Amino acid sequence: MKVLVIGGTGHIGSYLVPRLVLRGYDVQVLARNPRPRYGGADAEQLWSQVEWVIADRVMEEKNGSWGKRMATVDADVVIDLICYTPEQNRLIVENLDGRVRHFIHCGTIWAYGPSTRVPYRENYPRKPVTEYGKLKARIEADLLEKYSREGFPATVIHPGHISGKKWLPIDPQGTRNGVDVYRRLAHQEDVYLPDTGLATLHHVHAEDVAQIFELAILNRKAALGESFSVAAPYAMTLASCCEFVASIFGRKPSLRFVPLQKMVGVLGEEAFAIMKDHVIHSPCVSIEKAQRLLGYQPRYTTEDIYRECIAYLLESGELVV
Ligand SMILES: NC(=O)c1ccc[n+]([C@@H]2O[C@H](COP(=O)([O-])OP(=O)(O)OC[C@H]3O[C@@H](n4cnc5c(N)ncnc54)[C@H](OP(=O)(O)O)[C@@H]3O)[C@@H](O)[C@H]2O)c1
Repeated sequence: MKVLVIGGTGHIGSYLVPRLVLRGYDVQVLARNPRPRYGGADAEQLWSQVEWVIADRVMEEKNGSWGKRMATVDADVVIDLICYTPEQNRLIVENLDGRVRHFIHCGTIWAYGPSTRVPYRENYPRKPVTEYGKLKARIEADLLEKYSREGFPATVIHPGHISGKKWLPIDPQGTRNGVDVYRRLAHQEDVYLPDTGLATLHHVHAEDVAQIFELAILNRKAALGESFSVAAPYAMTLASCCEFVASIFGRKPSLRFVPLQKMVGVLGEEAFAIMKDHVIHSPCVSIEKAQRLLGYQPRYTTEDIYRECIAYLLESGELVV
């Protein structure tokens, strides 16, 4: 079976492509550079079996050659990891229509919007609030409609906050702000959290995201015309993330709570914006559908993700305690 992974060398692709090669598929990877972000000696042999398609999607969309490239794709399955607008999606779908057995789009849980009922199930209403989430929700709606009207073989996968060994997870303050919060928790220094610290994060390891794409291919019939959330077995509050990380260092966290808007003074503008986005969404998604229909079994809890990342930070010297 031939599988094309568009944007296959990033966080997801670095884990997904070796799995697909191991499965015995003929894998084509489209990116601007023929290099996975996280290689590793063990995966080198697998990557050497990949057929590279070197192209700049955005540039080709602008100059009109992307449609022609997609119209000549020779693959049974196309996985689109880097589609962010309905126009991009329309162009690719138009050109693949009738020519592929399965088209799998990577969405995001931001398409759901802030948590209303938790855990959020895929059939609940979408109420996205960010531009990113709104565009992804539109793409999902277009794909599912095209499946129900015309049988276009689409599946949509919505990951939580993607993390990996070398891709720092959203941290226990709900942002990405270097290693400071880990150092503070390790030394039992004060850590500030917004409001009551009960906002939630719902991480997912890139290995588990890769798992679900593979499962969608293997369970094509069950996956067609469906959306799936992919995340760790449970979401965690910021306070409990702090507690867990501190426990790795044999500590209890020293938590201070301040109103959300005051966190800008603690974190600075950039990290505050990321934190606020997470606090507002406070995601908590159900993975029951992916488990039931695809056999998804997450290998990583949020604790596992933090444990792995902190071990890497210590080993690489990025975190010194
Ligand atoms: N990050 C998260 O926490 C998160 C959460 C939920 C959903 N998502 C979704 O995950 C997807 C992104 O996956 P990812 O995190 O694996 O992405 P990523 O790490 O940013 O990797 C992007 C990949 O696309 C390639 N690429 C980027 N621009 C390109 C272009 N113009 N033409 C061709 N190739 C290009 C990159 O390689 P080159 O640079 O060599 O071209 C790389 O292979 C998106 O759909 C996003 O909405 C992400």
